[in-house]
Amino acid sequence: MDIVGLDSLVFGVDDIGACATFLTDFGLTATAEAGVFEALDGTAIRLHRRDDPALPPALPSGSMLRETVYAVSSAAVLEDIRAEISRDRVVSEGADGSIGFTDDAGFALRFRTDRRRPVTLPGERVNIPGQPPLRGVNELGVSPEADLTPRTLSHVVYFVPDFARAEAFYAERLGFRTVDRFTDVGPFMRPAGTTEHHTLFLIQTPPQMTGIEHFSFHMAGPTGLMQAGARLSARGYQTFWGPGRHNMGSNWFWYFNCPMGCHAEYDADMDQHDDQWVPREMPPGPESSQSFLMQLRQKWAPMGPRPAPRGEAGATAPAGAVA
Ligand SMILES: [Fe+2]
Repeated sequence: MDIVGLDSLVFGVDDIGACATFLTDFGLTATAEAGVFEALDGTAIRLHRRDDPALPPALPSGSMLRETVYAVSSAAVLEDIRAEISRDRVVSEGADGSIGFTDDAGFALRFRTDRRRPVTLPGERVNIPGQPPLRGVNELGVSPEADLTPRTLSHVVYFVPDFARAEAFYAERLGFRTVDRFTDVGPFMRPAGTTEHHTLFLIQTPPQMTGIEHFSFHMAGPTGLMQAGARLSARGYQTFWGPGRHNMGSNWFWYFNCPMGCHAEYDADMDQHDDQWVPREMPPGPESSQSFLMQLRQKWAPMGPRPAPRGEAGATAPAGAVA
């Protein structure tokens, strides 16, 4: 089944205003369609009021994630999914031709033909000793005018009550591949139509926690991630984890607390895998969860004593300066 990636995530929230402010501060673009905030390729977060009758039922946990929407390569793939899933559960059809159903843990899923816009912008380029310059002479690596709009919706992470059952559903019924796993926690999975390290990560938790843990958007590269994270921090949002770089997937990460009852992640430079890859398994823990982890500090500069302004005696040094 050629499922090619995520299309959008649908949330039912109490405070649309706060969520809309967060998503625009995060860097997504508010569209002409109310409540829709998109990345450069049109993948999006969609906000509704919690009590909107158009939404699928909420999970018992009260998770604000109400639907996960995947893109498929063709209408024929939709028919394949419909034929497989309708063997044991109801498959609904949307007015737009999409199909919807619920997975074994209660997450509402929707599949639609791919409407993502191709993004052909260059990635970040770095200059490396021993290599010709990848970024041209007189081209700057850092610009305060850099476009920090996330490029595409990368992945979603679920808390599930039984990761083995959930993994079997996505593998056997929808053709997802397990790429790596944390022992007794859950797998990183990718649909067959993408080489991304993971589009879905499952974490086993007590049943009452079933819901979304975080979503993530790909940035253009590590510099864009750090600039976007620094900008969001300066806007007053609280870091949950990061910045750092994961082992599984190798992606740079920076997670923030988000008013949709989950975490929101920037990521960059994720590994790509095909069916030749042999899945790894690691015990969960700080060593396996990241290669390195950094901590944000306020900006400063190692400034020495400064000459006194003309006409004043003595020299002054700012707080924190190097003497
Ligand atoms: Fe993530």
